[in-house]
Amino acid sequence: PRRFRIAHLAEAKHHGEPLTMLTAYDSMVASIIDRAGVDMILVGDSIGTTVFGDSNTLGVELADMVRATKSVANGTQRALIVSDLPFATYETGPAQAFESASQLIKAGANAVKLEGGVRVAEQIRTLVSNGIPVIAHIGFTPQSENTLSGPRVQGRGDDAADRVVEDAVAVQEAGAAAVVLEMVPADLASRITSILEIPTIGIGAGPETDGQVLVWSDMAGMTDWQPSFVQVFGQVGEALSKASTDYVAAVKSRSFPTREHSF
Ligand code: KIV
Ligand code: NA
Repeated sequence: PRRFRIAHLAEAKHHGEPLTMLTAYDSMVASIIDRAGVDMILVGDSIGTTVFGDSNTLGVELADMVRATKSVANGTQRALIVSDLPFATYETGPAQAFESASQLIKAGANAVKLEGGVRVAEQIRTLVSNGIPVIAHIGFTPQSENTLSGPRVQGRGDDAADRVVEDAVAVQEAGAAAVVLEMVPADLASRITSILEIPTIGIGAGPETDGQVLVWSDMAGMTDWQPSFVQVFGQVGEALSKASTDYVAAVKSRSFPTREHSF
């Protein structure tokens, strides 16, 4: 299958072809969603909440992201692999950002994602000019949840909307290949999508962005609760639960293993 590359982002926007992105944190899930034909796999710092069970993403270390990126790369043949720079690995400046991002690239990422607009434009410029494609992430940025007072829609009202637009334009001018818009009103996401030449990838940003991204465990029904903007496309948690109870019952009743499963 054709490898999805950075140049295909602009091509897709040009042709009006919706872009697809899902998270993965390990090779098993990555290989399943890669074979399903997703354009991009995001090794998200959402690994902190989804895999590690933390209450936010702030405790994720660069080493966690490096290990997860290697795992995802091992299971991926076609999708573009994008890895998140976790909290406190890029904010202080371009040198810190390059040092951190290079480790994700060495682990198998094809691009990195970082949170912020105007405030991280210099980091984006340095990464891109040194061979590391960047996807920016604006609107609600989970790494700033303490200053933003939790997961809240960003860009409501004219002034707030203008600030999100400024962030979008800043990351494009700095050389970002695409921008994730998280939890912004659909009309604002639509407006940014028409202003920008680079693709927008929405999550809780309505139907008019150039692409969509979801956390795999949310959209596959692994949890009892999902954010309201998520559609649950499958009941994988229920299937695993049933498989597990069936296994327990089979061992308890001595119906597994049989001689057929033996040497
Ligand atoms: O870490 C993540 O899963 C993300 C997506 C929600 C965009 O950044
Ligand atoms: Na993230």
